[in-house]
Amino acid sequence: MMNTFTLVGKSLAQHARKFSCSELVSKERQAIFPRLLFTRFYSKEVMQERHQLSNDFFFRQLFDDVSWTYTYLLADVESKTAVIIDPVLERAPRDAKLIKELGFKLKFALNTHCHADHITGTGYLKQLLPGTLSVIGKYSCANADRWLDDGETVEFGKHKLVGVSTPGHTNGCMTYIVHEQGMAFTGDAVLIRGCGRTDFQEGNPKTLYESVHGKIFSLPDNFRLYPAHDYNGQLETTVEEEKKYNPRLSKSLDEFVEIMNNLKLAYPKQIDKAVPANKECGLFDIPEKK
Ligand SMILES: [Fe+2]
Repeated sequence: MMNTFTLVGKSLAQHARKFSCSELVSKERQAIFPRLLFTRFYSKEVMQERHQLSNDFFFRQLFDDVSWTYTYLLADVESKTAVIIDPVLERAPRDAKLIKELGFKLKFALNTHCHADHITGTGYLKQLLPGTLSVIGKYSCANADRWLDDGETVEFGKHKLVGVSTPGHTNGCMTYIVHEQGMAFTGDAVLIRGCGRTDFQEGNPKTLYESVHGKIFSLPDNFRLYPAHDYNGQLETTVEEEKKYNPRLSKSLDEFVEIMNNLKLAYPKQIDKAVPANKECGLFDIPEKK
């Protein structure tokens, strides 16, 4: 009985209060409701149909347990061309080893923004895997081989990432979207049930809210979202989930601004070291012994 609302939604539940959850999904009870009506209520209230990755698309999520950063390795299986998103300096040898083991050729090392909590591994990866090009948003004020403007794409084999400008956490924040696979890499713009802070590095809560609602929450509900960090052990989320359950971004603009202006967060420990290094593509503190 407790799960009735979760499973079938309010309107159907009003007619179904006398039945238990298991009874509702039994064939006998389904006969009470036309099948199409049942399916429609069920899928609308529970979850959109999952978006499947294609067989020729490689995806691997990697983690740095010091800065709680997620790094993402994507590749075209046929051409073996790969890209990496938000690598961490200290993890660059791990990432380079994995890329070599899988037989991939790293084409681009991208950052979603100029990070304040860790030094990027892009510069180090350029040394470990010659031929790699670094990429970052045009408005990040950071050095790179290529600066992406809003809507520009990065291609790897048959696949491509679209760089979408989503400022608010920083001016140069980009969300990288792979439309065909139904996935978006949101950096710190959208975290799982959270978002990046807006009280330093050109942060602006109103800008962040408008970026997220205009460029990320406008994607199909079943798109998977992959953030730059998670501090609670979760790996991914979806547009639908964050629209419903994000405790900040599901609120009105005024409420969001009020929340963000009163977080009272501590000064980031790594910011004074990380930001200058990241403005130089992480070519700042690379270990001498590789
Ligand atoms: Fe950040």
